[in-house]
Amino acid sequence: MNDNIVLIGFMGVGKSEVGRVLAAGLGMKYVDTDSLIEKDQGRSISDIFELRGEAYFRDLESKLLEKMKDSKKQVISTGGGMVLREGNVKKLKALGPLVLLTSRADVIEKRLGSSVDRPLLKGKDRAKKIVDILKTRDPIYNKIADLIVDTSDASPAKAADVIVEFYEGMRK
Ligand code: S3P
Repeated sequence: MNDNIVLIGFMGVGKSEVGRVLAAGLGMKYVDTDSLIEKDQGRSISDIFELRGEAYFRDLESKLLEKMKDSKKQVISTGGGMVLREGNVKKLKALGPLVLLTSRADVIEKRLGSSVDRPLLKGKDRAKKIVDILKTRDPIYNKIADLIVDTSDASPAKAADVIVEFYEGMRK
């Protein structure tokens, strides 16, 4: 482990918000895998999905993790589907503890609002899509998580406090 903290979980659970607060509190760098991919590719995640498809995006995620293997002292926020590949999970675990953020489906839906930058939730019946994808992903998220923090009713600061306590306890 390299003193990083890896945030995993579904879209809209607050990985970016919590991650930023957490990184600031611990004096660590905050990075977001989606933003790194967008920067590298020079286009948005939505455009990558539309132009090249999901499998191509998943390959980009795996390649990025390979490049990140020497990262140190970073709070790493991952795209919600990053952990769908077992190889990615292995690489993430080598970077640091996996902190799973969760939220109720209704809260996720509300948080995402009408945002159009989540290709997997495009189109009609977003609430059902959220519930369906969560159903297939929850067992994976829960199985690999070292800590689970429910952010449904917690502020980013409160969630970050819980993670700091865990992280400091782990390093004693
Ligand atoms: C995805 C989540 C998104 C982004 C892409 C796919 C997913 O990231 O990587 O749209 O499969 O859950 P966020 O979890 O940061 O929204």
